[in-house]
Amino acid sequence: MKSKILIIGACGQIGSELTFKLRALYGDANVIASDINYSNLEIVNAGIFEIVDAQNYESIKSCVEKHKIDTIYLMAAMLSATGEKYPMKAWDLNVESLFHVLNLGRAKFVKKIFWPSSIAVFGPTTPKEFTPQYTIMEPTTVYGITKQVGERWCEYYNKKYGVDVRSLRYPGIISWKTLPGGGTTDYAVEIYHKAITHGNYECFLAEDTELPMMFMDDAIKATVDIMKAPKDAVKIRSSYNLSAISFTPKQIAESIKAQMPDFKITYAPDYRQEIANSWPKNINDSYARQDWKWKHQFNLEAITNEMLLQLDKKYNQPTENSN
Ligand code: SER
Repeated sequence: MKSKILIIGACGQIGSELTFKLRALYGDANVIASDINYSNLEIVNAGIFEIVDAQNYESIKSCVEKHKIDTIYLMAAMLSATGEKYPMKAWDLNVESLFHVLNLGRAKFVKKIFWPSSIAVFGPTTPKEFTPQYTIMEPTTVYGITKQVGERWCEYYNKKYGVDVRSLRYPGIISWKTLPGGGTTDYAVEIYHKAITHGNYECFLAEDTELPMMFMDDAIKATVDIMKAPKDAVKIRSSYNLSAISFTPKQIAESIKAQMPDFKITYAPDYRQEIANSWPKNINDSYARQDWKWKHQFNLEAITNEMLLQLDKKYNQPTENSN
């Protein structure tokens, strides 16, 4: 029997691209996109779309029953920078939504769940270089706290109730289709937009702030791969470290300058600097590489090439289909 998939948070940066990828893999009729509003018309108009409130158990359950869903990807979340502005809202959204989905798994309404964690589960006391899977985790952001507590609950529901929940600790994700919102790693997306539209960028992190990053195509591939892996291969049921590349604002600016020599960057670190300072510089993801054969493809040069190419098309050569 073909699986029927529900994506919660399908209008967001990762949810939107995941929707397109899963539809290509499993067929339009088998992938239901959902979100709290109609904020991304490309997704709303692209196929089956439902309004689902991730904080309301009945709202998710009725959509699951209506479409006979067996797999949920819970992509709705409030990210690190916005979370610091609205701590209780971040807690409520990130934790309540996870409980609802885990409880649907426990009650056997769904068979399989994907829930993203983040490098934000780590904190200032974590070793910053080649951060291991198992290490000190004392997150200092509300977002990081919600992700760490979520990881504990995922493992608990798996061990106690047999819920097949799978998770990845995403690094900063770089993509050109849908803008991210409210994250500390968002500078690495904004910089490409501003390079194309203004030729310069004022970065909200200092030039030497190294953070783990990944191109969207790699993040989607990792998500699809861990969900396709045989149950027994997914040994870690909290969340897997996942890594591709790491760079600083200065290094990403250099890679843009290699193609746009007149590009200028300035630095004006704000409150997000402290968040970035609390996170690892790079990650050891050997368990993911071992257990379900994870492999990334895009390095910084390839990301810069693709971002500048696609954003130049989007802003400077609009077609009828572009938005
Ligand atoms: N991209 C996220 C953020 O910056 C980290 O997972 O909040």
